Amino acid sequence: MSVVLRKKREEKIHFFVSCPRGLESLLIKEVRSLAPDCECREGVGGIHAQGTLDLGYQLCLDSRVASRVLMEVAKFERTRNDMELYQAAKVFDWTRLFNLSATFAIYFTHAPSDRIDDQYWALKLKDAIADQFRSKFAERPDVNRQEPDVTFRAHLEKGATTVYLDFSGGALHERGYRRETGLAPMKENLAAGLLGLVDPAGTVMPRSSFYDPFCGSGTLVIEAALKRLGVAPGLSRIQFGFEAWRGHIADLYLKLRNQRELFLESLKPLPEKFWGTDVDPQQVERAKANAHSAGIAHHVHFEVADALKSKAPFKGGVIVTNPPYGERLGDSQDLTQLYKDLGHHLKNHFGGYTVGLISSDKNLLKMIPLKPMAQHRVFNGKLESQFLVFYINK
Ligand SMILES: C[S@@+](CC[C@H](N)C(=O)[O-])C[C@H]1O[C@@H](n2cnc3c(N)ncnc32)[C@H](O)[C@@H]1O
Repeated sequence: MSVVLRKKREEKIHFFVSCPRGLESLLIKEVRSLAPDCECREGVGGIHAQGTLDLGYQLCLDSRVASRVLMEVAKFERTRNDMELYQAAKVFDWTRLFNLSATFAIYFTHAPSDRIDDQYWALKLKDAIADQFRSKFAERPDVNRQEPDVTFRAHLEKGATTVYLDFSGGALHERGYRRETGLAPMKENLAAGLLGLVDPAGTVMPRSSFYDPFCGSGTLVIEAALKRLGVAPGLSRIQFGFEAWRGHIADLYLKLRNQRELFLESLKPLPEKFWGTDVDPQQVERAKANAHSAGIAHHVHFEVADALKSKAPFKGGVIVTNPPYGERLGDSQDLTQLYKDLGHHLKNHFGGYTVGLISSDKNLLKMIPLKPMAQHRVFNGKLESQFLVFYINK
């Protein structure tokens, strides 16, 4: 390997790894277990992680909880107005980052203290990049907001602008296996996060069977099985944002990817069971189709059942579930009864189970006649939700 390439491989990079709000500490834990040497600290809606290029590739392939991996490419300390941003960005060498033939897009956000028009600032940054390309090559790369090859995400805070390259290129929760969704599907990375929160010490899940009695399109069951099997969640993605970045070291990425693909070929049947049931036959068909496209159809089981009548499918285990909630499904009167009945049903028929319930409606959760062992505030998309964890005595 050339000295330049080795140097590039060893260079420290600052990543911001975003995740659903409420899962930041879980993400830190996950990143530390993937890369023990990584320096991490918690932020809002994500974490800051310092590491080499391997870390970026690893996060895209292996993180179950991350939403996006962003790589810091520039920091302009003095951008108190749009002209200062333009001047600073115009002298930064963007041509080192991507080629003239690649398309690009820019998104801008700002801290509450710096009130700006994000779209206008994005336009200014775009002008600076385009003008710089033009001065070098007499041509500029095209903007494409629908399917850009390269996406920059810039953030203004206290008069300074940090620009990140969207390293993952699109949300990582879109693993690629979910072709079919129902009315209120849960994002795959939130599902993975809840599976981490239900068992913080990581001692129960690895030796328990798993059940979701309101499985919908099967997200929680599929994520639980993928996690137990150790399948890298990023493997089913077709493209990542780093592929159009000029610093991408394809050999390094492909080596990591191949290791995970080889592992996939050696999967053995699981001794534990992964079950999902739903009262709606259409949802059950969706869940089956999704498990099939995730390549794990023979490791999971889905069938039609009413959650208030179904008996425990196995002796002891873990339930994580997302019963219907008012914002999207059901009528609040019916829902109150459903949560009450669910609580009694769990108490009477699911002794020995650890149960995690998420709902955006605190009042509905109060209907469950059980004392939670733990309570977490998480965001299901924009919906502030509560995730309660119970242990049902035998
Ligand atoms: C919020 S959705 C679950 C979404 C699921 N986590 C996903 O990712 O697709 C709630 C599900 O509960 C189902 N449901 C409603 N009442 C039920 C009952 N009594 N028994 C079983 N399933 C029920 C609905 O059909 C719906 O699919």
